[in-house]
Amino acid sequence: MMTDRARIGVIGMAVMGQNLARNIASRNIGVAVYNRTTEKMTSFVEEHGDEGPIIGAETIEELLDVVERPRTLLLMITAGAGTDAVIDDLTGRLDDGDIIIDGGNAHFEDTRRRERDLADRGLRFLGAGISGGEEGALHGPSIMPGGTAEAYGEVGDLLETIAAQVDGTPCCTYLGPDGAGHYTKMVHNGIEYADMQLIAESYDLLRHGAGLSTDELADVFAEWNSGDLESFLIDITADILGTQDPRTGEPMVDVILDEASQKGTGRWTAQLALELGVPSTAITEAVYARVVSSRKAERRDASSILSGPTPGGGIACDGLVDDVRAALYAAKIIAYAQGFEQLAAASAEYGWDLDLGDIATIWRGGCIIRAKFLDRIKQAFDADADLDNLLLADYFRDGVAEGQAAWRRVVGAAVDHGIAVPALTSALSYYDGVRRERLPANLIQAQRDYFGAHTYRRTDDDGSYHLRWIADGGEEPRD
Ligand code: 6PG
Repeated sequence: MMTDRARIGVIGMAVMGQNLARNIASRNIGVAVYNRTTEKMTSFVEEHGDEGPIIGAETIEELLDVVERPRTLLLMITAGAGTDAVIDDLTGRLDDGDIIIDGGNAHFEDTRRRERDLADRGLRFLGAGISGGEEGALHGPSIMPGGTAEAYGEVGDLLETIAAQVDGTPCCTYLGPDGAGHYTKMVHNGIEYADMQLIAESYDLLRHGAGLSTDELADVFAEWNSGDLESFLIDITADILGTQDPRTGEPMVDVILDEASQKGTGRWTAQLALELGVPSTAITEAVYARVVSSRKAERRDASSILSGPTPGGGIACDGLVDDVRAALYAAKIIAYAQGFEQLAAASAEYGWDLDLGDIATIWRGGCIIRAKFLDRIKQAFDADADLDNLLLADYFRDGVAEGQAAWRRVVGAAVDHGIAVPALTSALSYYDGVRRERLPANLIQAQRDYFGAHTYRRTDDDGSYHLRWIADGGEEPRD
């Protein structure tokens, strides 16, 4: 379709950039596209130019010429130094009030810095996490924008139009200033890591612990997807488990190397959780599990040296499938509770005033962690916007209470049979930790005071004290 003006320019024609441009054009919104290697842009326009009002730009000047003022430019390039280079190149050529949207997985501190620097130059910046992979980008992703509020006022309608819609509500809303959008996307990815690890542990238990075939497992996951666990990740897992290798006819999962990669967003979530003092244990264990998986050569050597039970299909199958389902569900609640707690802590730390109910709302569709129970999370925050921990909401409290006996059996069976289930186990330990009024930290305080005079507080009196543990056993008050 011919057009000579564009509402928005997309810079970067890798698959996410291409599919977002097609998504925009499919709504009859003019979109100009540019890629550093021109060939990629021209072949895109040849292939998809008739899908809507798309203009190919061979140079940045051409792009800036055809985009309506104030210009809106969406960067869809690999996060990192490349983003700074493109922004630097753009800034000298842009006019006051133009808007740059970074749709990559940027670190939120980079987004904060970029928003500040661009504001100094009269430009407006949005850091917008975009989730949903290739299909989401094409048909409707979940979009998590943060940055200059009045810039959102101008482009929000466009972003909300191209986003996934659930019950008529767009999976996109303004989240807060500077890095709020990219932080939210990062925690989304952290939860994605935990969710994937919990599913992988469940698969491991049933496949290698209980000896179910991949075909049986495909049916189990498909059935789980019709209940509380209904979600994109459970759905694709059923599909993956039912897929055969086109070369050998073996189950596809059996021929895929057991080394997981990572690009960094899960690790950032864990690092930042530590800095905030939030126990995002399920996410962190999922990151470590990927690290252990990536040490294939070491594991191969160690497998014949280190002793212990070897998973060999010996876990009794009776009731195990239901137990694993309950354990997976309970642990998933913990992972989300921890992720939302981290968002609340980051919001307080950076002054973002994040609305956790809004975040649950825009995660209901389009994104990788979309799941039926996000409706419940939204309801929990609607009922109490200051909810300290999702676990304290009736629905989730009851969900974990119902599943916990099965969860304990599953963790016990995994330990007995030598199957590593770090996410299932750490989530259970977190649960047992937060629900106990008294933990063994009294002993830790005593040790700290013993070797370093770090002081302790008493259960029966106010103030801080030091005990002269070795000298005469006397106690002295300390400030
Ligand atoms: C999404 C995904 C997307 C990407 C991940 C993969 O929300 O659409 O999370 O952002 O696939 O970054 O992350 P890893 O490579 O670290 O697994």
